[in-house]
Order: sequence, then C-alpha cells, then structure tokens
Amino acid sequence: MLKAVILIGGPQKGTRFRPLSLDIPKPLFPVAGLPLIQHHIEACILLKNLGEILLIGFYPSNQIEPFVNEMQRIYNITIKYLQEYTALGTAGGLFHFRDQIRCGNPDAFFVLNGDVCADFQLEYLYEFHNNNPNALVSMMYTEATKQQSLNFGCMVIDKKTNEVAHYVEKPCSYVSAYINCGIYVFSLDIFQTIGEVFSNKQSDLFKPDSSNGNREASHMQLENEILARLSGTGKFFGLHVDTWWSQLKTAGSAIYANRHYLELYKKAANRKFHSHGKGDEVLCTVIPDIYVDSTAIVDPSAVIGPNVSIGPGVVVGAGVRIQESIVLANAVIEDHSLVLHSIIGTQSRIGKWARVEGTPTDPDPNKPFAKMENLPLFNRDGRLNPSITILGCRVSVPSETILLNSIVLPNKELARSIKNEIIL
Ligand code: GTP
Repeated sequence: MLKAVILIGGPQKGTRFRPLSLDIPKPLFPVAGLPLIQHHIEACILLKNLGEILLIGFYPSNQIEPFVNEMQRIYNITIKYLQEYTALGTAGGLFHFRDQIRCGNPDAFFVLNGDVCADFQLEYLYEFHNNNPNALVSMMYTEATKQQSLNFGCMVIDKKTNEVAHYVEKPCSYVSAYINCGIYVFSLDIFQTIGEVFSNKQSDLFKPDSSNGNREASHMQLENEILARLSGTGKFFGLHVDTWWSQLKTAGSAIYANRHYLELYKKAANRKFHSHGKGDEVLCTVIPDIYVDSTAIVDPSAVIGPNVSIGPGVVVGAGVRIQESIVLANAVIEDHSLVLHSIIGTQSRIGKWARVEGTPTDPDPNKPFAKMENLPLFNRDGRLNPSITILGCRVSVPSETILLNSIVLPNKELARSIKNEIIL
C-alpha cells in the first residue's frame, strides 16, 4: 500500500499571492477549473494501491475541511487534513504526524509540495525508487537556467547511478542548473534520519550557547536539514523529468499554470477531470483551450480563449472578449468589455465597454529551460513591476474605464481608470 502527503503550508505562506489569498487559501485557488491541490489529488489517485492522502498544513481546519469532504466524495478514497499547531516547516510536519503516515505500514509515501504545478508522473517515480534498493528518498528534478537556479534547491547528480552527490537549497552562487521539483517518494526509514535531526535540535536548545533562541525546535526544513544531509550517502536519488513543471508563487504564475493544465487535461483522457463544460459545449466563439463551468452564463456573441477559465455562476455579456485570464465564481463581465492577462476576483463586476488588461509574466520562450520569474511586486526604483491585472473579490469597475497592470484589493469601487497602481 502507498500513501501520499501534500504539504499545503498556511495563511502567512501565501503572501506573494495576495490579494487572491485574502479571499481563498492558495492551495484551493482554482486553476483550470479545479482547486490547485485537486490536481495533486488527481495525480495521486492514478497510483495503483494508494491507501490514503494526507494534507498537512497550518490553515484553520474550517478552511480546508469542506474541500476534504468534497474530495472524499468525488474520489472515494480516505483523505485527511492534519493541522500543524504552528508552521513546522516542510519536514517538521511530516515528523509530527509520522504515526499517521506510518499507520497501516505503507511500502512508501509520496510527498508533494502543494504549490507545485506539473505533469506529475508518480507511478514512474515509484518505479525509479524501487530500482534503487538503498534509496530512502527519490526526488524528481528538472533543469532551470543558470541564473534562475539560484532560487531553487540545486543538486549535483552522479549520472551513472542517479545518486544525488551534493544538494544546496537556494545557493548564493551557481552550483548546478538541476533543480528540485518538490515531488518525492520516501521509504518509511526516513523517519530515523528526521528523528536524528529533531533530537539534535532539541538537545541544542539546552546548550548554554544555544543560538536557536526561542525558535520552535520542531521546525525542520526538508531541503536544508534532511536532503542536504542525505546527499552523497547513497540513499538519495534523483529522477530527471523534462515534462512541464512550474510553481504557484505569484498570481501571474496562475495564468501560466492554467494554460498548461488545460493542455494536459485535453491530452490525458484517463484523468478524472470533473469538468462540467470544457469549452466545446459553450455556444460562444471559443479559441482553445478554455474551461467554462456549467453554471456560467456566456452570451453567444462573446469570444473566449485561448487560456481562459471561467468559474461557477459567472455571467459574460454580449460582445465580451476574454483571453489569457481566470474569472472567478459569480463575477459579472458586462457587454463589450475586454479582459486580457487578468484575474477577476469572486463577485467582481466589470461594467460595459471597459478594458482590463495586464502584462504577461510567462517564462521567456527563447531561453531554454526558463521558469517563471516570480518577481516581487515592486522593482528597485519602487515602481510596480509590470504584471497581470488582479481584481480582488467584490471589486466594481465602472463602464468605459481602463485598468492596466494594476492590483485592486477586495471590496473596492473604482471611480476612474488606473494604470500601474495598487488600489489599497
Ligand atoms: P519559496 O516559497 O521561494 O521560499 O520556496 P520553496 O518552493 O522552497 O517553498 P517552501 O519550502 O516554503 O514550500 C514548499 C511547499 O511546502 C509549499 O507548498 C508550502 O505551502 C509548503 N510548506 C512550507 N512551509 C510549510 C510548513 O511549515 N508546513 C507545511 N505543512 N507546509 C509547508
């Protein structure tokens, strides 16, 4: 039997995802019509012999439980949310809930970072893991540009054995362009290694010169404290993947992920994609790929796509044009408006003949292996970096206005056109 753990983090982790994370926990943000981590669940249930899925994070349980119940109903498999009492880090949560993970004696367990978006081929990773009998952990890795690699976990791989010879998390200078995908399979014996790190940290607390201060000693980082320690021991292996892989850090990366998930689901008919309307059933003009919820009302004269997801209860008026955007539940886009490279928040309203437009932040297609940049909101001159336009929930945009490269926090009623502004 196998298990899968999805690390979902907690409220203060999704800060770069504001204002969207003010309204909805980032792991539940809909990408291609499904909450982000439902894509992980879809990948997990393809595993043969999967016994249980555990979500570990520190969101209040009332924010996650309704989703968990819905997932159990859809997939008919045990899914549990295990809530950390505080942020325990990517290994601290695994260790804290080790008895839950070990329960039933699974042969191995997967760990997926909740903010990864990818064509997860977990069966393939498991096969790879089993080919190395000494492996405590096998991890998927991919390639980034030399410059971008510094933002990720980097590793040196022995190409003959696939062993990870050296691992550094976010190095200060170039180590390797091979980066950690945040998708792992572990043997149960890993808890011995994590336990040793835990005990060392606990004993450190009692040393008179402890530099740990008041830091939570149960907080452990998988990358720095466990993977780096296992590199070069013959127990840590890397599987190279060259399929699509990205992370959802900023709102801009949601539009990029949306495009790839739409494409993936079109190809992978074996996946249980619970879509109600996949665009081809929509009566308006469609430029694929798009996702339209069955409860959305789209005027036949609208033109939608490519790369658009339209959530439940959305109303799209006559002559509307939407491209490269995500429109969240119950938003209204009135007649003849244009929405480009934008995310329109839940229950927002865009008046007639308005133009809402952002700047795409996709990886440079001319640079091999380029990944999303995930730039901060402001550049060094204190100006807003060009990015997609985001309307928080319940924002109202008057008719005949233009919104360019702007971010509007929830519940705002705009009265004028704006450009490169954050409306707080
Ligand atoms: P940055 O976000 O750039 O720091 O890089 P990263 O990709 O290494 O992210 P990080 O290690 O912070 O998170 C990886 C995944 O683990 C994400 O899905 C987080 O939501 C999740 N995560 C991070 N910290 C915690 C934690 O304390 N507890 C749990 N359960 N999950 C966490």
